[in-house]
Amino acid sequence: MQFTIEVGRYNPEGRYAETAVPGEAFPAPWNASPARRYQTYTVELPQHAVVLDALIAIREYQDPSLAVRCACRSAICGSCAMWINGHANLACKSKLESFTKDGKTRVESPPSMPIIRDLVCDMKPFWDKHLAVKPWLENKEPVPPPDEEYRVPNAAMEELIQEVSCISCSACLMDCESFAVNPDFLGPQALAQAYRYVGDPRDDKTKERLGELSKAGGIWDCTHCFECVQQCPKGVAPLEQILKLRKLAVDAGFTNNPGTRHADAFADSVKHSGRLNELTLMPKSTGLFNIVGQLKTLPSAINMARAGKLPPLIHKSIPGVERIKKIFQRVGGRFK
Ligand code: FES
Repeated sequence: MQFTIEVGRYNPEGRYAETAVPGEAFPAPWNASPARRYQTYTVELPQHAVVLDALIAIREYQDPSLAVRCACRSAICGSCAMWINGHANLACKSKLESFTKDGKTRVESPPSMPIIRDLVCDMKPFWDKHLAVKPWLENKEPVPPPDEEYRVPNAAMEELIQEVSCISCSACLMDCESFAVNPDFLGPQALAQAYRYVGDPRDDKTKERLGELSKAGGIWDCTHCFECVQQCPKGVAPLEQILKLRKLAVDAGFTNNPGTRHADAFADSVKHSGRLNELTLMPKSTGLFNIVGQLKTLPSAINMARAGKLPPLIHKSIPGVERIKKIFQRVGGRFK
């Protein structure tokens, strides 16, 4: 069967080469055009071939200059994650036939990561974030002697099976909408790993971890775009872990931050009028007495006004709002 592959090739004359050195601070967008160009190849492969088969065939028989990273070819090592038709996927797990759109498949390095060459992106931002959440156990005392087991209830470890399944391919980070505009965001993989240690009964630093994760760039910077859930090849569903961390952080008392205030303001508005009052959401999230923070939101407000998106000054309740209030009362807890 014949397949047409359009490959994003590294363009050494492009912007990335002029502005950044691999391994150092990367200006975003790291590999925006013209740091890449597209080259089209045609390959003859069996119907069941995957994208990686095509790339290896191109490299072996047509163009030895093509750079592609892979190892296991079995969706285990995580090294072949790349953008396929605009979303992160493992090339060794993506059937070419299913990914052929309008007669071709486009593969490229993800725009949110720095390019090293062709389909090989620099994983430094990914590993920096991974290490930032201290992905190791800080043992509770007393630590059992080396010849004794530290017994953990099965149920406790079952809770962590999803997070332990991560193969660090970075597909979730490659497609993360929040990371694309905020390079300081820890990102879905690091936060899912953070939950793996917060949720481990052997770890002694739960409160410290939750405090760190509640700061800027942490759990509250996720925008719930669900891309990480969609693209993770192992079902880790990082967003689910982020939501668990948020609940634990709030329960542990880490509420004095824009993220918690935003959630509170959102719920408060819906509870009282049945819908969102966008006019008060931003000031309440920033903190009513945080003048500097308020001023920083001004450009967004001006842009909204220019685009005709400012909400009405008088916020009206929806009909039947009393029923919404009853729902909040029935759910109880923090928003009662
Ligand atoms: S080559 Fe190892 S996951 Fe694809």
